[in-house]
Amino acid sequence: MKRIIYLILITGIFASSCNNGQNPESKTKEKESSMSIKKEPFGKVDNKEVFLYILKNENGMVVKITNYGGIVTSILAPDKIGKFDDVVLGYDNLNGYLKETPYFGAIVGRYGNRIAKGSFTIDGKKYSLAINNGPNSLHGGIKGFDKVVWDAEKFETKDGVGIKLHYLSKDNEEGYPGNLDVYVTYTLSNENELKINYLATTDQPTPVNLTHHSYFNLAGTSGRDILGQTLFIDADKYTVVDENLIPIGELRDVTGSPMDFRKPTSVGGRINDVEGGYDHNYVLNNNGQIAKVAELFDSVSGRLMDVSTTEPGMQFYSGNFLDGSITGKKGIVYNKHFGLCLETQHFPDSPNHPEFPNVILKPGENYTQTTVYKFGVK
Ligand code: GLA
Repeated sequence: MKRIIYLILITGIFASSCNNGQNPESKTKEKESSMSIKKEPFGKVDNKEVFLYILKNENGMVVKITNYGGIVTSILAPDKIGKFDDVVLGYDNLNGYLKETPYFGAIVGRYGNRIAKGSFTIDGKKYSLAINNGPNSLHGGIKGFDKVVWDAEKFETKDGVGIKLHYLSKDNEEGYPGNLDVYVTYTLSNENELKINYLATTDQPTPVNLTHHSYFNLAGTSGRDILGQTLFIDADKYTVVDENLIPIGELRDVTGSPMDFRKPTSVGGRINDVEGGYDHNYVLNNNGQIAKVAELFDSVSGRLMDVSTTEPGMQFYSGNFLDGSITGKKGIVYNKHFGLCLETQHFPDSPNHPEFPNVILKPGENYTQTTVYKFGVK
């Protein structure tokens, strides 16, 4: 009898010390159930309904994405004392994006960045694209993937919530050959990552270079620009460009120049020595494997963002063309350098540079790319 009472007592003490009075399973469930995804009407474009998807992870981080242009309209990330603030530029409503946007938060395609004179040749046939940037074609042309309505499906897994977007870009759209079937999946994980997976297939050879165009400002809505934030880029070289930002073919060593971000350095420290500010493609040291290629840090808020990608390049754009003419979310005026973009991509104008990594997708092949923006504090 004594032995039985002793056993009951021991089992009781053991059980309560294991779960602190709570059933561990119910604790996990409680965490998981704090993840959510909501869908709200956001307006209408091209006679199609547009929605805003509100993704929330179990740490309370929130990412809002619309199926118009696959635009990330908001990322609420915590600072070192746990205060959430919006770390990307954009508008409060769809109208803002329809009126004017320098690609705030959008999916960019069919070819992110510039193609010289909008012209290239595949298998001896010359193609001419819509011209929309001086003499060049930029970010997919006049109506790129940032301005179309994507089909969207929400999903939830045990690690996060997300939406899967789909768009069929028709043969000859903006001058590009072939029907391109594109899927972009955004996932907000419980590790505070915003993961973007891209997949595309075609029925004719065509250039493909998809990227994401969020303007980050880790100072949130505090009113500070990005010049005081610290940037690390794991790249020994960058593609040298001409006056129209078209690569001349040279991959130049960053050593000893204001282009060198291999040691974390403030964005504004040397920006005046770079004509026009930073708007350059870095040749990443990741060997085509997913790896951390950049880190942005704001010492005031303690917010940190790591960028990992499979892509060979990354356009670092320091928001040079923002000039105070746009008033964004919460009535904030977006002055010069109020946000910066880290656009993971293939090199600009690759279709005209056979020496650059290949961007021509052929029928039967899969185009894939993965990029992860991970938020933290330090
Ligand atoms: C990219 C380009 C910039 C500019 C922005 C949008 O980052 O490289 O030159 O066109 O997009 O304003």
